[in-house]
Amino acid sequence: MTNFSKIALAAAACLAIAAAPAKAQDSVKIGLILPMTGGQASTGKQIDNAIKLYMSQKGDTVAGKKVEVILKDDGAVPDNTKRIAQELIVNDKVNIVAGFGVTPAALAVAPLATEAKIPEIVMAAGASIITERSPYIVRTSFTLAQSSTIIGDWAAKNGIKKVATLTSDYAPGNDALNFFKQNFTAGGGQIVEEVKVPLQNPDFAPFLQRMKDSNPDAMFVFVPAGQGGNFMKQYAERGLTKIKVIGPGDVMDDDLLNGMGDAALGAVTALHYSADHNSQANKDFVAAYKKMFGQRPGFMAVGGYDGIHLIYEALKKTGGKTEGDALVEAMKGMKWESPRGPMSIDPDTRDVIHNEYIRKVEKKDGELYNVEFQTFESVKDPGKTKK
Ligand code: PHB
Repeated sequence: MTNFSKIALAAAACLAIAAAPAKAQDSVKIGLILPMTGGQASTGKQIDNAIKLYMSQKGDTVAGKKVEVILKDDGAVPDNTKRIAQELIVNDKVNIVAGFGVTPAALAVAPLATEAKIPEIVMAAGASIITERSPYIVRTSFTLAQSSTIIGDWAAKNGIKKVATLTSDYAPGNDALNFFKQNFTAGGGQIVEEVKVPLQNPDFAPFLQRMKDSNPDAMFVFVPAGQGGNFMKQYAERGLTKIKVIGPGDVMDDDLLNGMGDAALGAVTALHYSADHNSQANKDFVAAYKKMFGQRPGFMAVGGYDGIHLIYEALKKTGGKTEGDALVEAMKGMKWESPRGPMSIDPDTRDVIHNEYIRKVEKKDGELYNVEFQTFESVKDPGKTKK
């Protein structure tokens, strides 16, 4: 064999070896784990919708890679989430896991993301601890500490002296309660009743009676997205409408707000997103979402929309490289204009930094909206443990 043909043969062999994995690497696979059934299904639906919307707007190819989303329903049960994540990582060889409708689901996957060295993009869950559980976790949702500290200060400064609290009895509910209490009592406020309700299928009635009996100026409420409608129904039926509702904005989720009726009017909450947010980016987002799905997006939809945006932009930055460390590095410090307003990823904590808005439920053209009236810019998560 001549030297030339030896080289040609060797080159052909190299090409053959290179061709097989190159084909597999032409796509980037995202394992999207969401509650599509059960009590948290509205969260799953909003995020799935928002991702479909984003990909219809931007196309399903980025940096030369075809984006493949594999959606799985975990029903917000963390044992399911873990098993599904394992299957997605081992069998489907996903490059990224994303979604996570509740904190326990996000936490269950943290050790798997660390072991597999792949990004875990948290698009819904809100307990502060989550991002500390794996260096591969990046969050585009929110934390309860961000909204609850802000509403705690606002309540103390706005003539509210006595508050009864009602919070879902799990990590984000406890964050909401503790951060609210910390700021509200520091400002001179007093907690006169404290009740915790179960996360699953809560019956609020017996708790509402205790709230009423404590005769507060306002009640601080945290229930996760999807439960606000049921809560407000029982609140109205039990005759509590004279007691003002305050809290993080989860209870006034845009998704359900219109169905709550006039009982919701006047509720003052703090959150990073309102469908009424006055920016061109949000008007475009709301209009496109309504056109595609026939309803208003809520804050969970925005967490999904920003989550997929973060993935697209990170892939652009790595030039299509899907290696986990490179993607997480690319995500750190990323800044963009979201429908919620300006946002970024804290390069130190991988957590979301965004504006918090204080809003009041008002009627506009016959529909209920959370109308923003005060802005706190670039709020970092106050719930990070000091290192
Ligand atoms: C959570 O489980 O972390 C969670 C879910 C829904 C919310 C807020 C927090 O609205």
